[in-house]
Amino acid sequence: MSINYNERIPNNVDLGQNKQLQRALEHWQPKYQDWWREMGPVNSDGYDVYLRTAVSVDSKGWAHFDYVKMPDYRWGIFLTPPEQDRLISFGSHKGQAAWNEVPGEYRSTLRRIIVTQGDTEPASVEQQRFLGQNCPSLYDLRNLYQVNVEEGRHLWAMVYLLHAYFGRDGREEGEALLERRSGDPDKPRILGAFNEKTPDWLSFFMFTFLTDRDGKYQLAALAESGFDPLSRSTKFMLTEEAHHLFVGETGIGRIIQRTCEVMKEHKTEDADKLRALGVIDLPALQRYLNFHFSVTLDLYGSEVSSNASSFYSMGLKGRFEETKINDDHRLANVEYPVLEPIGDSLVEKHVNAAMALNERLRDDYIKDCQAGVDRWNKIIEKAGFTTRLRLPHKGFHRRIGTFAESKISPDGRIVSEAEWTHKETEWLPTVADHQYVQAIQGRVTEPGKYANFIAPPARGIDNKPHSFEYVRFN
Ligand SMILES: [Fe+2]
Ligand SMILES: [Fe+2]
Repeated sequence: MSINYNERIPNNVDLGQNKQLQRALEHWQPKYQDWWREMGPVNSDGYDVYLRTAVSVDSKGWAHFDYVKMPDYRWGIFLTPPEQDRLISFGSHKGQAAWNEVPGEYRSTLRRIIVTQGDTEPASVEQQRFLGQNCPSLYDLRNLYQVNVEEGRHLWAMVYLLHAYFGRDGREEGEALLERRSGDPDKPRILGAFNEKTPDWLSFFMFTFLTDRDGKYQLAALAESGFDPLSRSTKFMLTEEAHHLFVGETGIGRIIQRTCEVMKEHKTEDADKLRALGVIDLPALQRYLNFHFSVTLDLYGSEVSSNASSFYSMGLKGRFEETKINDDHRLANVEYPVLEPIGDSLVEKHVNAAMALNERLRDDYIKDCQAGVDRWNKIIEKAGFTTRLRLPHKGFHRRIGTFAESKISPDGRIVSEAEWTHKETEWLPTVADHQYVQAIQGRVTEPGKYANFIAPPARGIDNKPHSFEYVRFN
């Protein structure tokens, strides 16, 4: 199937018939292009990148591969097709027809939900801006760029909703999404984890494994929304998100595999010796995992939250796989357990399930992360080593919610300030870790070659051979 890359704003929302929306988006598009040039991947405008592009939204049609210059990527607006007679499946409107217009009384709440999701998309592109300069291979560089263009398109998806359904306020929010900057103290991105740095490829893979997975769970909860355009936008975004998680999981898996090969070959697990051999020791990997996991857990918000409860009862944001859950989907008389530090122990409390929706989504997310960590551990086990990676306790290193005031160890004990200070360098990445990981980053651009700290992937993208030229620099 061929693509018309010149079509100004590709879409399946009948943009041609909606002059007002067209004007709004055409006004926004040049500002978006400016933002991409200023904050997107550095020095990449002229590169031909072997990218996957959405052609249509049906299951076969959306993954079309070809060489594309990223500024010409087919940014556009794609919603999954409407489900006939869709009903709202939870909250106080359960059983009513899903909305195709914004319910007036929920307008500002819904706008805030869309803006908060939308803000994360350009933020991650900004965080990853410089990584291309130190790519461990062409294969990885292409994957980075694929993630970047899709996050850009996710911004489009949210801006479309703002423009199409929120009038002038929506247009202003659309502009503001291009004005905030990740990590900028004066105009930061809305959520904490999206203001952290992603200075090296270990951080990038942890980010895509952990923080993009938060994206998956947030999008899945929004895909349940009673506001049908939001549901359909986020459903399509989820199909793209799966690749981001794949990049993260296999990226870390390949680092682990390479480390294990060197441990075997040199019969050593000593961190200093491994560093002298140019690979990343497993304890350092564990510390990076601890850091990225804990900052991502904060994205779910407080364990007990009246906001989350309102979003649910309004029918705006559901639970993960809402329709597969066997309860009344209103939650007035349902309970959910949350942990609370009391004295020197963590005590389980049962609270109203609607108030604990953030915690429930976080727990669903943790299970999904654990499955990935188990797969990483299989690589270590297969290599014959007994070290295992572990997700830290959910209270570890948290800044938001019930654990924020306590010091919790990775194994889930409340510890003294003194123990925390003593152990922090075992639990979180140290200055030396960062320096070392950054020092071994290099730019590998010869087709089929990989940086020393990472193994080649099991197979190529779109079944291409190892030596495939995923990026042409021209
Ligand atoms: Fe995204
Ligand atoms: Fe993503």
